[in-house]
Amino acid sequence: MRQCNGSRMLAQAVDFIGVAFRRNDLADDPVVTIEDVRQARPIVWQHASPAPLVRCVAMEQVLNLPEYRRVWIKDYGWTPVGSFKLMGALAWMHRHQEKIGNRPVVAHSSGNFASGLAFAGKRYRKRVIIVMPQSAPRIKFERTRFFGAEIRTYDIETDHQTGARDRMVRDLVDELGAVQASPYDDIDVIAGNGVGGIEIAQQLKQDQRELSHFVCPISGGGLMAGHALAVADVFPSAAIIGIEPTGADDYRRSLLQHKRVRLEKPMSICDGLLSYDVGKHNWPILARLVRTSVAVDDGVTCSAMRWLYEQVGLRTEPSGAIGVAALLSGQVDTAGQGDIVVVISGRNIDEDRFRVWIDQAS
Ligand SMILES: Cc1ncc(COP(=O)(O)O)c(C=O)c1O
Repeated sequence: MRQCNGSRMLAQAVDFIGVAFRRNDLADDPVVTIEDVRQARPIVWQHASPAPLVRCVAMEQVLNLPEYRRVWIKDYGWTPVGSFKLMGALAWMHRHQEKIGNRPVVAHSSGNFASGLAFAGKRYRKRVIIVMPQSAPRIKFERTRFFGAEIRTYDIETDHQTGARDRMVRDLVDELGAVQASPYDDIDVIAGNGVGGIEIAQQLKQDQRELSHFVCPISGGGLMAGHALAVADVFPSAAIIGIEPTGADDYRRSLLQHKRVRLEKPMSICDGLLSYDVGKHNWPILARLVRTSVAVDDGVTCSAMRWLYEQVGLRTEPSGAIGVAALLSGQVDTAGQGDIVVVISGRNIDEDRFRVWIDQAS
C-alpha cells in the first residue's frame, strides 16, 4: 500500500498554473460535441438516476465566501457503482451493442470503469472481462464481480516496464474475439460522462445560480472532457479547473508543452488517476476548455479525505477527494462572483486503507 508522506501533510506550496491557450497548438477539432452529450442523456437516464448535487456550507465557510456564493458537491458516490464511471460505460455499451453481439467486452481499468462496465454489461446482457491491477481496492473487485464481470489481474508496479496490462487486453481481443472498450479515450464514453455535466448545469440554472468555477479530477480525461463540454455550454465564462496528483501530472505538463505528454511511471495514492496520459479524443476538448491545471500532493488529499469524513460525513476514495483537496488547500484561485462546483468522482475505498490515510492526515 502506498502511504501518505507525513512531512508533506500540510497544504503544499501553491502550484497553480494558468496556461494561455494557443489554438494552433491543438490537433484536430474536438470530435465530441455537446450534441453527442445531449444524445447520451436519455440512454444514461434510462438506467441511472442523476447523482446528487448538494450544497456544502462547511466548504463555503472554509473558503470564506460571501453569502451570495455557494459551493456544490456533485457526489458520484451515490451511483449504483459508487463512481461516475457507469455513465460513459452505459453510453458506450448502448452504442456498440449490435457490433458486440455474442462476443465478450474487454477493458483495462483501475477498478471504477470495471464496475461501471460490469453494470452496463448486466443491463445489456453482455459478457464483460476486466484487466485490473492486483492491488486495486477490494471494494472495486467486489463491485465488479457483483455486476457479473470476470476479472484478470496484472502488476501495476511493473507495468511501465512489462506492458502487461495492454498485452493482456490485446490477447483477450485476439483469443476470444472480444470487443475492447476504453475507460476514457472514446467518444461515447466522453459523451456519456458529460451527462453528469448536463445535470449540474440544469440544476444550477433551475435554481437561478451562476457558476464561476468548476473543479474536477483529470486522469485519462473522459470525466472532465464530457463535463467541460456541458458546463461550458451553459456557463461559458466559468473557469474549468483540472486537478491531478503531483506524481501523475501529465495534463499539467501537456498544457505547458501544448501537446499530450506521457509519464513514464505515474505515482500517487489516487489509484484512479494513474493513466500514463490523457486520451487522444480527450485532449482537444481539454486543451480548449480546461485552461487551468492544479497538482495536489497526496498528503493534501489525505487531509481532504479526513475533512470530508469529519465535516460532511463522506467516506471518499483519494481520486474522488482530490478536487476538494485543491480547494481546501487554497490551490484554486476562487476569486469571482458565482458558485463553485466540485466533483467527488468516486467513493470506493476499503475501510482499512481509509483509516490509515485519514489517521496520517493533519
Ligand atoms: C474515482 C475516479 N475519479 C476520476 C477518475 C479519472 O477519470 P478519467 O480517466 O476519465 O479522467 C477515475 C478514473 O478511473 C476514477 O476512478
